[in-house]
Amino acid sequence: MGNTPNRSPTHRDVDMNRLAGLGMEVEELAEGGPLTTDRLLRYAEEQGKPVSHYYAAIALATELELPSAPVTAVFCAGKCQSWGALDAIDEAAAQWEKRGGGFAIGVRTCLDRCEDAAVCQIRTPAGTATLVRVRPEDVQKALDEALG
Ligand code: FES
Repeated sequence: MGNTPNRSPTHRDVDMNRLAGLGMEVEELAEGGPLTTDRLLRYAEEQGKPVSHYYAAIALATELELPSAPVTAVFCAGKCQSWGALDAIDEAAAQWEKRGGGFAIGVRTCLDRCEDAAVCQIRTPAGTATLVRVRPEDVQKALDEALG
């Protein structure tokens, strides 16, 4: 893992104990089938919790793999949480709902650009765009560009 930003954290991380509990929930969910964006969104809604917390738990508290798609938005859900990664993930989920799918959401513990947290990659058949210091509106714009 690289350096963290000199900038002061702007957001609060999900507590590790809580992530462990959420991780167990998603492991159970994974026994019923692949963790598609659709299933995760519906599950988070049923539980009344932000889907980004489940995504962070998948990255940090499980060995689970998320399915990818031709267009996949991959987020760092590690230390980037302190600089707004969860908001960016929730925005991707909101975009997914709005569009009725069309892309997948992935998570990693680090995307090696820690000094520019929060970090997201938009992976498409044409290549990968790395977004740094990403805010929710940047995610929306990048998905608009990738998906038309
Ligand atoms: S912690 Fe390294 S890119 Fe987010």
